[in-house]
Amino acid sequence: MAEALPLSGRSCVVTGGSRGIGAAVVRLMAAQGADVAFGYHHSADRAEALCEEVRAAHPGRRCAALPGEVSDGPGAQKFAAEALDFLDGRLDVLVNNAGVTRDVSFARMRRDQWDEVLDTNLGSMFNVTRPLVMPLVRQRKGTVLNVTSASGIHGAPGQTAYAASKSGIIGFTKALAKELGGLGVTVNAVAPGFIETDMTAALPGPHTDLVKSMIPTHAFGSAEDVAALLCFLASDRARYITGQVIEISGGLVL
Ligand SMILES: NC(=O)c1ccc[n+]([C@@H]2O[C@H](COP(=O)([O-])OP(=O)(O)OC[C@H]3O[C@@H](n4cnc5c(N)ncnc54)[C@H](OP(=O)(O)O)[C@@H]3O)[C@@H](O)[C@H]2O)c1
Repeated sequence: MAEALPLSGRSCVVTGGSRGIGAAVVRLMAAQGADVAFGYHHSADRAEALCEEVRAAHPGRRCAALPGEVSDGPGAQKFAAEALDFLDGRLDVLVNNAGVTRDVSFARMRRDQWDEVLDTNLGSMFNVTRPLVMPLVRQRKGTVLNVTSASGIHGAPGQTAYAASKSGIIGFTKALAKELGGLGVTVNAVAPGFIETDMTAALPGPHTDLVKSMIPTHAFGSAEDVAALLCFLASDRARYITGQVIEISGGLVL
């Protein structure tokens, strides 16, 4: 008999699934047997195309692309409700992935830049997780996976707002893991270093070369590398892991 796929029968919600790491997570979760509802903000066409790609690649698997602006409380709540509805009220895995950078030195940073980064990256942890936590708890099984950043652990120049938001995600992850562990729900974070997506494509070439020379593996990671880690954490194989922050950065800081 064929071995069951690692995420067979799981219902997953992913924020920011239209591009980059989130899109790779949607693809891999579906390939590993899951039904997926994912959110997008601006990239509606890419999100719909991804959904069609997933349905074509995995007939019978369910996939929905839903508007999901995570920095807006009522909007995120609507996204969470629609995602849950699409998944027939069942939720096994929530991946809080959506995020933005607005890199600028602190001396030049405007308040609206600070607010946008904090509201999107950290505010979304409340906005999306709060309406979805009870379905996980009622089931006494499930996992919340938060995408933080190596910058949230180590800091990086030009990223005071981003690092603050990503550090906040780490505190949120550990506290929620302590609250939910006894209720059968695990909570972990992954902390990518430099990953090849639109986010890092904006870096100037000479800066990219310098950074690569400082990474022990001399290369940026791929969105698929991060998706593989998240799918492992979403699987039963990771059932005894909670409250952890797992860095995936080619050894960026050792
Ligand atoms: N790439 C890296 O090197 C790196 C390193 C460390 C951590 N991370 C983290 O990994 C996560 C994904 O990054 P990425 O590299 O894949 O970025 P990306 O390619 O820029 O994609 C960002 C995703 O987040 C969504 N998003 C942005 N703002 C949103 C909002 N307000 N509401 C809902 N969705 C929103 C985007 O949706 P639309 O396109 O639909 O607007 C898109 O799907 C982020 O949390 C990021 O901080 C990335």
